[in-house]
Amino acid sequence: MYPDSSSQSAALYERAKRSLPGGNTRTTVYMSPYPLYAASGLGCRVTDLDGVERIDCINNFTSLIHGHAHPALVEAATCQIQLGTTFGMPTPSEVYLAELLSGRVRSMERVRFMNSGTEAVMMALKAARAYTGRPKIAKVEGSYHGSYDYAETSLDAEPSNWGEQAPNSIAYARGTPQGVLSDVVVLPFNDVVKAEELLRAHGPSLAAVLVDPVPNRVGLVPASKEFMSMLRRVTKDTGALLVIDEVITLRLAIGGAQSMYDVVPDLTAAGKIIGGGFPVGAVGGSAEVMGVFDPSRGRPPVPHGGTFSANPVTMMTGLTAMQLFDGAAIERLGRFGDRLRSAINVAFASTGIPGQATGVGSLLKVHFHNRPITDYRSAFPTPQQQRLMARLTIKLLNNGVMTASYGLIALSTAMTDSDIEQIAVAFRQALTEIAAEGLEANAG
Ligand SMILES: Cc1ncc(COP(=O)(O)O)c(C=O)c1O
Repeated sequence: MYPDSSSQSAALYERAKRSLPGGNTRTTVYMSPYPLYAASGLGCRVTDLDGVERIDCINNFTSLIHGHAHPALVEAATCQIQLGTTFGMPTPSEVYLAELLSGRVRSMERVRFMNSGTEAVMMALKAARAYTGRPKIAKVEGSYHGSYDYAETSLDAEPSNWGEQAPNSIAYARGTPQGVLSDVVVLPFNDVVKAEELLRAHGPSLAAVLVDPVPNRVGLVPASKEFMSMLRRVTKDTGALLVIDEVITLRLAIGGAQSMYDVVPDLTAAGKIIGGGFPVGAVGGSAEVMGVFDPSRGRPPVPHGGTFSANPVTMMTGLTAMQLFDGAAIERLGRFGDRLRSAINVAFASTGIPGQATGVGSLLKVHFHNRPITDYRSAFPTPQQQRLMARLTIKLLNNGVMTASYGLIALSTAMTDSDIEQIAVAFRQALTEIAAEGLEANAG
């Protein structure tokens, strides 16, 4: 049972505190009183240091589309490791993965690789600035795009500072320069009228509009068709570039979420699943815009290197993962997602706890309220709802299921019907326990 102060994870955490700040190297995996350390993973299951096995619904924050240690991916990685892991030379593998992405995602005529989604978003925004010669970017309130200063603006805005008339630009990291905040226009998600007004007001200085069509931290509800079409229309009118962040959503359709909207952005940022479990990021776009990276005519407008960019272990494993992730796999995962969403909603209704599961296809998110969710503000949890989420996460752990602490669930192709049923049973059990203890009981 978690927490257990006599566990090996608890002991390792004490040791970790002596070499890592707060014992932690990724804020996203921090857990109090201690994190569970992973020992191994196979298929959709992870075993922790104390030998406890659980179904993994985190999948390294949506990146492990085939779960852990898929035999074909192990083989692809192992074969490449034997040939060398990284070179001060390009390898054929980067061409293969770029061709696969261009073949699937219409907007990605030319592709460039890096090592994380953060870098992909950063390079897309730098490309947009270089191409347009303008300084500002617009992004959606609450939307997560990694750790680039501009892209993380207003990530955790709250009622006390988010602003009335138009969303304020709020620093995420202390010390963010004011200049960064003044160059970011924050948009209300799915509010076509207000967002268009803001975009037009800043039109002449806008380099890019950055949008994730199903933003996890905005409640994991999809952008409306009207919102996406408005962004495309207004960016065309004002001369800004439309940048779609598909770092998470590329798993939703062969052509990415953008294909579900029939909107072709100028630039697309990708990451996570395209690395087959290894660090990765990619930017793709029209040949013309991507020309800002082209060194063949002298110094490019946006020089870009990266010691490990396009390393062949990532490229070959990513290629294999993407080849295995076909339309049938997407459809099967979508069915699993729908089933689990409705099972969670039924569990909320039958226990009388206010709550709902949102999401699209294989991505799900749990909320402890029943409000219709359209944007960051309508999704925003109260402190009590946050405490309930913490209790649910621990109860799920103790019922054999790992989910992200803020209620995100990402399914993998390693899951079967019976795994989905097991996750649903764990939810029913966890919510029944919460109902029995009362909504105000303490976590743990
Ligand atoms: C939509 C989105 N964009 C960008 C990123 C950043 O990717 P990375 O963690 O690989 O830097 C993430 C990470 O979760 C993401 O969800």
